[in-house]
Amino acid sequence: MQDDLIGRAAHRAEITARAEAQMAAMGVDPAFIDRLVETFYSRIQAHPNLGPVFDGRLSGRWPAHLAKMKAFWASVAFKNGAYGGKPVQAHHGVAGVTEGLFVEWLALFNQTLVDMEATEEARGWFMATAERIARSLVLALFYNPALDDPARRIQPST
Ligand code: HEM
Repeated sequence: MQDDLIGRAAHRAEITARAEAQMAAMGVDPAFIDRLVETFYSRIQAHPNLGPVFDGRLSGRWPAHLAKMKAFWASVAFKNGAYGGKPVQAHHGVAGVTEGLFVEWLALFNQTLVDMEATEEARGWFMATAERIARSLVLALFYNPALDDPARRIQPST
């Protein structure tokens, strides 16, 4: 039992060390993630379409949101389990959120990475990760599986 626990902890430490080394090779460390999150969300707040939607939900709670987003990205990048939240639930009921806003979110994230002079590898990794998560959030928020059910499809009249 004890050996099993020690073995699993060692395995997790190895996974994190490998992820940290891969990220370091792309120029990504915890300080980079902190700067990315701070820069990106200050641009979100200044954005004409994204700003009001975020602020409607996060007014007075921005510092906690930034801390959470730093933990989220550190956890995805370094596989260190720093974040344990539920992103899909968090986005339900955000007033004014639309599918098109996700496109604007991704464009702003990309521009932030360019302006921060992230390496091409780092930009590629952050964008691929963000696009994957954005796609699953959009599916969870805007698609009704019943619409894909052939039994419910309206037959075209002939
Ligand atoms: C138009 C696009 C988006 C909008 C308007 C939006 C808005 C928000 C808001 C308002 C919150 C705070 C919820 C709360 O604490 O009450 C939040 C949390 C969060 N968002 Fe987004 N978001 C967007 C896209 C994304 C994308 C693309 C990602 C991932 C790459 C993401 C990841 C997260 C995470 C991890 C949280 C924290 C969830 C938790 O509470 O554990 N969001 N988002």
